Amino acid sequence: MAEKVYQCTVSAPVNIAVIKYWGKRDVGLNLPTNSSLSVTLSQDDLRTVTSASCSKSFEKDTLWLNGHAEDISASKRLSVCVEELRSVRRELEKENDSMDKISQLKVHVVSINNFPTAAGLASSAAGYAAFTEAIARLYDLTWTPTELSRIARQGSGSACRSLFGGYVSWEMGELHSGADSVAVQVEPVEHWPEMRVAIMVASAAKKGISSTSGMQATVASSTLFQERIKNIVPGRMQAMKQAIRNRDFETFAKLTMTDSNQFHACCLDTLPPIFYLNDTSRAIIRVIENINAAAGKTVAAYTFDAGPNAVVYFLEENSSYILDALHAVSKHAEGWEESARNPTSVKIDDVASETVSSGVSRVILTKIGDGPRILSPEESLIKEDGTPKNA
Ligand code: DP6
Repeated sequence: MAEKVYQCTVSAPVNIAVIKYWGKRDVGLNLPTNSSLSVTLSQDDLRTVTSASCSKSFEKDTLWLNGHAEDISASKRLSVCVEELRSVRRELEKENDSMDKISQLKVHVVSINNFPTAAGLASSAAGYAAFTEAIARLYDLTWTPTELSRIARQGSGSACRSLFGGYVSWEMGELHSGADSVAVQVEPVEHWPEMRVAIMVASAAKKGISSTSGMQATVASSTLFQERIKNIVPGRMQAMKQAIRNRDFETFAKLTMTDSNQFHACCLDTLPPIFYLNDTSRAIIRVIENINAAAGKTVAAYTFDAGPNAVVYFLEENSSYILDALHAVSKHAEGWEESARNPTSVKIDDVASETVSSGVSRVILTKIGDGPRILSPEESLIKEDGTPKNA
């Protein structure tokens, strides 16, 4: 008789930081030099789907990521997450005789992203959040998202924030063990559901220098960065939380842009300097400035991660005004098909307009969203025999 295959399928969201995580105080445990804060994006548009399974018939812990098989034990980040979850399950099995002894079994995990991996679109965040959540559910762990965030953090720092929907902070903590370096929900989606997002893809290519090595170089060489972590971020975290609680978009937007600018300034202050922004990114900044100037107030905010793609935040009430202007400078990009746009009233700088027009290949229109979801068995990526469906 074929061995039983246990399985569970989940999806997890992307999050985009408005106060950036950049710098580790402990590389092994992925402990940050500063707290950070993000907005979780809707899984209707961007998500990682992950199925986790285990069975006596499996020979080694394997992950199929977007169709490519990887030995989990060969990756420190993946194996830390699996082993931590396994040991929690093992304890439960010891306490409760009726539980199947599945912690002894090897796992097969199949994961797919519906967006370009490593394009600066936070694929590692959604990926490690889904990986952690799927195995936790496979093991029937009843942990809170904050407890699970301690494990996801060790896969990829920003992943800890993808275990919640809405507005999420990652509190840096103080302990050497990392026990207090966890994600917490600042406010759920329902508190301020009007937040909208346009992602302007300036390059879907794999990024030049990874965030992990980039941040280490910054920690080692930037004096501006020391100022940032000691004297800037603590106050900015408080101000950002307050702006979110008050649903104060102008303050939210100004803090978001200022923090993105400072993060990229720290990159430039690194030896050798790191350039994540390109001409297209800078032209998008110009366009957002034109949009805000024409509105007479701050109605749109840009932010950039470790790559040239722009993420633009705005409120539903200004959606038409902002999308018409963004469309005017990126008409030929993929992604506008389902959005009927009108000519813009905003006077946009000609050079910026041309640069954006030739540099942006795709737009993704989305909004704020909820945390990881458990999917039905029909949505599983794993066959009954434990092999991936589309391999
Ligand atoms: C610029 O979470 O990818 O997106 O912990 O080394 O995996 P590791 O880094 P990662 O870094 C994300 C950096 C960022 C800012 C942010 O998301 O806060």
